Parts: sequence; C-alpha cells; structure tokens
Amino acid sequence: MGLQWGDEGKGKIVDYLAGGYDAVARYSGGSNAGHTVVIGTRKHTFHLIPSGAFKGKELLIGAGVVVDPAVLREELSLLPDELRKKMLVDGRCSLVSPQDKELDKVLEEMRGPAAIGTTKRGIGPAYALRALRLSPRASDLIAGFDFSALSKFYQKLGVDPAGLVAWAEDSKALLRGMVGDVSRRIVELSESGGSVLFEGSQGSLLDLLHGSYPYVTSTHTTTGYIPAALGISHTLVGKSLGVTKSYATRVGGGPFPTEITGPLAETIRSVGNEYGATTGRPRRVGWIDLVALRYTVKLNGTSELALSKVDVLSQVKDFKVCVAYRRDGSETSDFQASLAHLSEVEPVYESPFSFYGASYDHGLPAAEKRFVEYLENELRVRVRLVSHGEERSKTVEL
Ligand code: IMP
Ligand code: MG
Repeated sequence: MGLQWGDEGKGKIVDYLAGGYDAVARYSGGSNAGHTVVIGTRKHTFHLIPSGAFKGKELLIGAGVVVDPAVLREELSLLPDELRKKMLVDGRCSLVSPQDKELDKVLEEMRGPAAIGTTKRGIGPAYALRALRLSPRASDLIAGFDFSALSKFYQKLGVDPAGLVAWAEDSKALLRGMVGDVSRRIVELSESGGSVLFEGSQGSLLDLLHGSYPYVTSTHTTTGYIPAALGISHTLVGKSLGVTKSYATRVGGGPFPTEITGPLAETIRSVGNEYGATTGRPRRVGWIDLVALRYTVKLNGTSELALSKVDVLSQVKDFKVCVAYRRDGSETSDFQASLAHLSEVEPVYESPFSFYGASYDHGLPAAEKRFVEYLENELRVRVRLVSHGEERSKTVEL
C-alpha cells in the first residue's frame, strides 16, 4: 500500500516481493497508475497489469479495477507469450472507453483553476458510470452490451458517442480469452495453500473517502478495500506492508503541508527523477510528514514498512521531518478532513540526521540506521525493506 500521495515506489517493491507468492492481484484504480520496474538496463512502466508480471506469477485484475482495454492490449504486447497467458481479468470489472477519457478532460476544464489535475485516463468517469449503473463490464461486453443509454448520457455531456460499438467489438476480441472470476481464483489458491500479493495503486492520501477530497482519485486506495474490491472475505487478507519515500511527492492539485519550492526542491526532483510515470508531469516535492504517515498507517493497519529512495537524500544538504502541524498558534497531530485545515497548517520540523554525502556501497550508512529506528519508534511499524535505487539489486532486507 502507498502511504503517501502515490509514487512511493510500490512497483519496485511488488516486483521484489512477488517471488514469494503464487499470484499478484491489482484490486483498485486503473491506468492512472504508473508502476516502474527496472530489470537490468530495461525500465518497464505498468499502468494496469500487476507489477509482478516479470516474476512469472499469475496476474489477477480484480473487480474493483477499471480496465482500459487499449492499455491492457499494449501492456500485454510487451510480455512474452508464456507470461501473457497468466492474465485473468474479473468479468465484473468496469471498462474505460475513449469517451470516458474525453469526459475526464471536459470535467477538468469545467473546474477551471480548481482542476484536480487528473491523469486524464478516464478513471473518474468510469467509476462514476459504475455508480450510475451505466457502465459496461468486461463480461457484459462479451455477452453483448446495449449502448443506447450510455450513448445518450455521453451526448448530454457533450461527448460524441461515435465509435463506441466498434470499440466494444475490438475490446471483446481482446478480453474474451482472459475474462473469468478472480474472486473464485483467489479462494481456490487459498484453499490449496497458495498465496496472493495484493498490489495497491495510488496512495492512501488519494483515497476517495479518507484522502484530501476533492483532490483525490475516484476509488479506495487502502487495505480495507481489498476484500470488497476482489470479492473475498476479509479473513483472507493478511498483514499490510506500506511503502513510503524518505521524502514526499505529490502530482496534481490539492493541499501538501510539507511542500517545498526553489532550488532545494529542484535538486530533489532531479536527483529523484520526480516526474510522473503516467503523465510526465514534474512532481511537487516536500519533506516526509509523520502526521500524514501516522494517519495512513492507522488507515491501513500497516505493520511493516518499505522505505524508498533514501539514496536521494545523500545528495541533499538539508533534511527535515515534519513531526506535527501548527495552526492558529497551537500544535496538532491530526490529519483532519477539512481542506481548509490541511491548506493552512504550518509544518513543525525536526532535523534529526543528515544523510548528505552518505555512501551506499557497504550496506546501510549510519544515518540511515538511525532513520529506520526513528521511523519504527514514531510510527510503531517494523521497517522491513529499504531501497537505494531503481534496480532490483538495490534493495536491502532488514
Ligand atoms: P485520477 O486518478 O486520474 O482521476 O487523478 C486524481 C488525482 O490522483 C490527481 O491528483 C492525480 O495526479 C492523482 N493520481 C492518480 N493516480 C496516481 C498515481 O498513480 N500516482 C500519483 N498520483 C496519482
Ligand atoms: Mg506512480
């Protein structure tokens, strides 16, 4: 699970951990995600298919995911045949049409300066249509879907429905061989002693209910949604591992209490290559925020942590940790619902260590060991993995 605003480095961690599981399941979001996995000199960015793809595991896309067939087709084409056969998409998944992507743009333009800064991948419209009971699901498309109501709806919103039927035909041809029942498959795996790694997408602070609404994505991004989205019992969900960067980033609009700007932000952005994997947008950067992390650890029941991009800090002269917020003269450690609160709080910082100039050639530098202990105490979690770079080899298991 991502414990920040997405882009924590989940893709790399999922790829790393996938070796120990029989299957990897995406349960939420869609191709707004950008999960980067580096293998040797090759960099792969997955938007839709689970990041465990190159570990040869079963790849499951659960009912809570909104599936863009065009993206699925493209990503599958990058996989060797034997891996492509491991893909199973739940028939209950809502599909993302070209019209949904168009509608995403229309809605963003409508908001003007208050735009969310969506990835324009049609995610909000697809989930909204699901709630309105207008959306075609994968299994509906295969059985034959009547597009007349949906077409009228798009028209009312000024989006041309032309091409929907042809899109449906193309998508049907792609989906036919891989649509099934992910819920049943997970239960089967569980009953035969198998294990599944559930891959979060986006970050907990982008959760539709518990994030910085309305600057959030259109679905749920925490552990609690796993059983509902996959159609399994909560008793099948084990421990929750959270991923956080050693600093923070956010892409898109919305409050970001520890945001920094200027030359220091530029340094972190360029050293950490903080550009959106899906949209290429420069990410906003800031300091790690313990108020927000305590909140998301609580939301997810996080017991283990993966700490990413610690190496970036070795090239940054400054280092700060936000330990509380201050508003109207008093300190608070509450991550409140109110957007005004989150926009107005001033972070209270500590600078407990300096990583500047640290070397990662011989295990963990001293400052990092202290940072790990500090986070374990502050967040009451166990840090299990630290990541010092994009490649698989630059992962230290503690
Ligand atoms: P949407 O999910 O495309 O509707 O975008 C809603 C908000 O979530 C925007 O601020 C996006 O930048 C952000 N967002 C969506 N997916 C991701 C992601 O995978 N990483 C980081 N931010 C994301
Ligand atoms: Mg990402």
